[in-house]
Amino acid sequence: MSAGGGSRLQNRRALLTGAASGIGAAVAKAYLDQGAFCTLVDLAADPSPQAAELLAAFPGRAQYVAGDVRRMGDIDRFITQAEERFGPIDILFNNAGLFDLAPLLESDEAMFDKLFAVNVKGAFFVMQKVLAHMVENRTRGAVINLSSQAGRRGEALVAHYCATKAAMISYTQSAALAMAPHGIRVNAIAPGVIDTPMWKHVDALFAKYENLSLGEKKRQVGEAVPLGYMGAPSDIAGAAVFLASDEASYITAQVLNVDGGNVMS
Ligand SMILES: NC(=O)c1ccc[n+]([C@@H]2O[C@H](COP(=O)([O-])OP(=O)(O)OC[C@H]3O[C@@H](n4cnc5c(N)ncnc54)[C@H](O)[C@@H]3O)[C@@H](O)[C@H]2O)c1
Repeated sequence: MSAGGGSRLQNRRALLTGAASGIGAAVAKAYLDQGAFCTLVDLAADPSPQAAELLAAFPGRAQYVAGDVRRMGDIDRFITQAEERFGPIDILFNNAGLFDLAPLLESDEAMFDKLFAVNVKGAFFVMQKVLAHMVENRTRGAVINLSSQAGRRGEALVAHYCATKAAMISYTQSAALAMAPHGIRVNAIAPGVIDTPMWKHVDALFAKYENLSLGEKKRQVGEAVPLGYMGAPSDIAGAAVFLASDEASYITAQVLNVDGGNVMS
């Protein structure tokens, strides 16, 4: 479901990483629909078709900045570009992420380094650097980190990815406590199975290791959701708007499951 048009984030300045596709692009649209100014960050030099559509639909309210969350210099640059264009950042949607899997005994150092570089190190330093600006600017901002149902429970084939998403739960809690005296809220969203470009890759990997035909894993995980289907990227938008808005002003250090009932808390 889309969060719909409105003014729940009127004139807030949001920075979103991994915003060229999937969940990031859907949340950027929802933030723009609610009146925010948005800086969309992703790897490619030019905006994806989805990002370009948002820039055209919200002239003057959205910009695209190429950046790699693995590079400290890029993080400093895209934060500066966001603030030079729109002013101090009020909202961080800390979303850039990668997936990979293999049986535990084959989950090697290269996979560990690749996933932790983006999902943990990149996400942590994007958060830390944005928080430093929020403290300096005395902004009572909101950070939303992307965890996952995979961060709640290990999986035999998904050890490294699950560990990265568990790490984001821990960083969310620590950062929320560190930032509480500044009035900055830090929460996380734990999506379940969401039908994004990432899932093409996920499905193909499960097909390889579980001897399934392509598309079979997607069908299985969708059917196993209590609500009966995989989520769409826009299914994350309502929670992302809520946690960024004043409606969530007394909510911090929490991880919100948005998963059709997969995880109960
Ligand atoms: N799709 C799901 O089922 C699901 C479930 C739980 C959590 N998540 C998490 O949600 C977030 C978004 O995932 P998605 O499904 O929309 O995936 P996606 O692949 O559609 O989008 C991820 C985006 O991050 C970008 N990105 C990757 N590495 C980057 C880097 N180094 N610097 C900047 N950008 C980078 C990619 O280019 C891509 O546009 C991820 O953190 C993912 O782990 C997804």
